Amino acid sequence: MSESMSWSVRTEQFCRKLNLKIPILLAPMAGACPVSLSSAVAREGGLGACGVLLMQPSAIVDWAKQFQSESDGLFQMNNWIPDPAPVRDEIHEQQIRDFLANWHPDSGSARPMLATPDFEEQCEAMLQVQPAAISSIMGVYPRPFVKRMKKAGTYWLATATTVEEAKLAVSMGADAVVAQGFEAGGHRGTYAAGDAQGAAGGLISILPAIVDSVNVPVVATGGIADGRGIAAAITLGASAVQIGTGFLRTPEAGIPSAWSDAIGTTMPNHTILTRAFSGRLGRSIATDYAKSAESVGAPEPAPYPIQRGLTGSMTGEARRDNDLAKMQAWTGQSGFLSSAEPAGQLINRLWEDAQKLLP
Ligand SMILES: Cc1cc2nc3c(=O)[nH]c(=O)nc-3n(C[C@H](O)[C@H](O)[C@H](O)COP(=O)(O)O)c2cc1C
Repeated sequence: MSESMSWSVRTEQFCRKLNLKIPILLAPMAGACPVSLSSAVAREGGLGACGVLLMQPSAIVDWAKQFQSESDGLFQMNNWIPDPAPVRDEIHEQQIRDFLANWHPDSGSARPMLATPDFEEQCEAMLQVQPAAISSIMGVYPRPFVKRMKKAGTYWLATATTVEEAKLAVSMGADAVVAQGFEAGGHRGTYAAGDAQGAAGGLISILPAIVDSVNVPVVATGGIADGRGIAAAITLGASAVQIGTGFLRTPEAGIPSAWSDAIGTTMPNHTILTRAFSGRLGRSIATDYAKSAESVGAPEPAPYPIQRGLTGSMTGEARRDNDLAKMQAWTGQSGFLSSAEPAGQLINRLWEDAQKLLP
């Protein structure tokens, strides 16, 4: 919308709506946005984030309490919209276990842990903590929940990877669309899991396509990690940007050092889109495990969350052991641009650099 409006009016309107000082949102990253990082971003006037995918309702409430004790800034809560239950195939799962045993001996006999927190209970907890915004990925919230968000006055940020998804989200009541480019670290937000590989638009194409197709603000995400990327996204019509990988090397993110160090030297072609960690397509560093799982002869990954259950003991141990080869090292294509400076200093510098490039 409103690409004819000057960039400063567009970004100011968005900031005013959400009470922000800087049009930069920390990307929600399940397992990688601790309160320390979110509060550092929010203290400077950006939007903090909490990815609740793996969190029980009590942990969601505790996260918000801790955030409020560390910052009077604002945050978004984010959840994945669940896929239909996957079809189980014991023979195929055993083939995957046999392959994984080459990487982690326990995997040969592991039964996948498929229990995930209850989606509806998580949604209740998200509403209860009264975030400035609630975001969605992999689909749209069910109508009754959208109604409750509206009643509570919660701003709905809906991730979309295509024009069709963006239009669907807006028709359901989304207040803004987060246009996720193919460059993004972590999972692709494509609504139908099977379409993820094909729906792989780069941000420079999908951003103006979505801006021209919907009448709500558009937030750009995917591969943005310096002032040039922010200025480019705003020039293409974005009202704000959302940055994930670009914040992962800050001390407040607290990720394992092997992952953090590798992000800083990872060129775009050294990342890989793979289903080998979770069963849903996502972009990680092209680690030894990811490359091997994508090679000819390796078994096709099982659907989400079965694959995640099968790889869980390997990736969990790798995180504890700081072993990049087997770690779930989600990283976007612009990891090489990311900086290890404190998050508060980084967000201010990024916005200053971007403004110097904007007319
Ligand atoms: C470690 C990691 C975890 C992520 N988890 C989530 C998540 O739980 N929910 C979500 O909507 N997006 C998630 N994402 C995607 C981000 O929200 C965002 O789209 C992406 O980081 C943008 O690309 P960038 O990493 O190049 O900045 C994750 C990304 C990363 C790197």
